[in-house]
Amino acid sequence: MTVLPRPESGRPYRVAVVCLGNICRSPMADVVLNDRVAAAGLGDLVEVESFGTGGWHAGNPMDVRAAATLTAAGYDATRHRARQFTRSTTGHDLVLAMDASNHSDLADLGVAGDRLLLFRSFDPSPDDDSVPDPYYGGDEGFAHVLDIVERASDALVEQLRALLDRRDADREEVGQ
Ligand code: 4NP
Repeated sequence: MTVLPRPESGRPYRVAVVCLGNICRSPMADVVLNDRVAAAGLGDLVEVESFGTGGWHAGNPMDVRAAATLTAAGYDATRHRARQFTRSTTGHDLVLAMDASNHSDLADLGVAGDRLLLFRSFDPSPDDDSVPDPYYGGDEGFAHVLDIVERASDALVEQLRALLDRRDADREEVGQ
């Protein structure tokens, strides 16, 4: 099981999900993970946001196929605007790369290795290490990404709940 890094500072625990363009995979993960965090009652304790290592789409809404896939499954895909992850993007407790190339780019941008993980390391039934890029493919690629991000988000939120519960216990022990 992938172990979550301990929180760097106070609350909330800050999570960044990162792909290449920030219009397909990481926006889908952002929407689904935020949905699961809220459903778990962790909305005040966990902050999720998404970025791309590239800046070509900065300011744009997500890809229409990503939005359609999310909307058909009952999610709100309207609020996303793409942002680029740069050297100035700091302060996240956990940075989750969608694929190995994103992982390598994030390490080059200075993200500490102990806070940088592959998003799919939380997928309980992975057929690959990476979330495949659906941008140049058909609609089925977006459905596949949604399946992956739903499975991985469920598992990740369980771990976040355990980590944050432990933080509560730690605080009680030291009388805070
Ligand atoms: P994403 O997909 O990284 O999942 O957002 C892509 C979006 C745009 C491009 C590549 C991948 N692009 O080359 O513009």
